[in-house]
Amino acid sequence: MTSWIVRALSDADRPAWIGLRQALWMGSDATTRAAADGTLLSEPQRFGALVYGVLLALEGGRAIGFVEVSLRDDVEEFGGRPVGYVEGVYVEPRHQRRGLGRALIDAAAAWTRAQGAGALASDVMPGNLASITFHQRVGFSIIGETGEDQQRQVLLTRPVPPA
Ligand SMILES: CC(C)(COP(=O)(O)OP(=O)(O)OC[C@H]1O[C@@H](n2cnc3c(N)ncnc32)[C@H](O)[C@@H]1OP(=O)(O)O)[C@@H](O)C(=O)NCCC(=O)NCCS
Repeated sequence: MTSWIVRALSDADRPAWIGLRQALWMGSDATTRAAADGTLLSEPQRFGALVYGVLLALEGGRAIGFVEVSLRDDVEEFGGRPVGYVEGVYVEPRHQRRGLGRALIDAAAAWTRAQGAGALASDVMPGNLASITFHQRVGFSIIGETGEDQQRQVLLTRPVPPA
């Protein structure tokens, strides 16, 4: 039996979410500031998204992982059709390999379906073999590459569950 849950972010969770995303991304780019002031969720179009969602994994009431997922219609490989897009997924190191990453991606897929889209996409740096393997294990397949030169990313997708 699992002792953790995955659910949508609430207002009260925001400090914990900011702490977790800082652990993943470390830094202060535009999305960091927008997460802190709330505009990442309220004005997703500023970041190229139609909708932006955050799902948290919690154990004993404490946030230990998250996934950020957006709805986008600018992914060339999908020809303008809206798709869910994993912007980032993170599980605290001591809680990894317990199935939380899979549960977060499943929740992101369910969120995507609720937005009316039929596929979830994600990208990974080509050298990040651990992340590529994780994605493949949770149902993604590589479909190509995005970006150029230093920004090159492996693009992956998986179908989302039926409603
Ligand atoms: C990637 C990450 C989210 C995985 O979370 P997790 O909770 O450990 O994942 P799970 O336990 O649900 O594992 C799901 C599957 O992926 C596999 N997997 C997980 N981490 C892996 C790794 N580092 N290397 C290879 N396979 C891995 C598991 O074995 C499992 O496969 P199985 O069910 O077939 O046995 C977590 O390691 C993490 O936060 N890493 C740092 C941030 C990161 O790289 N994020 C992705 C890019 S934004």
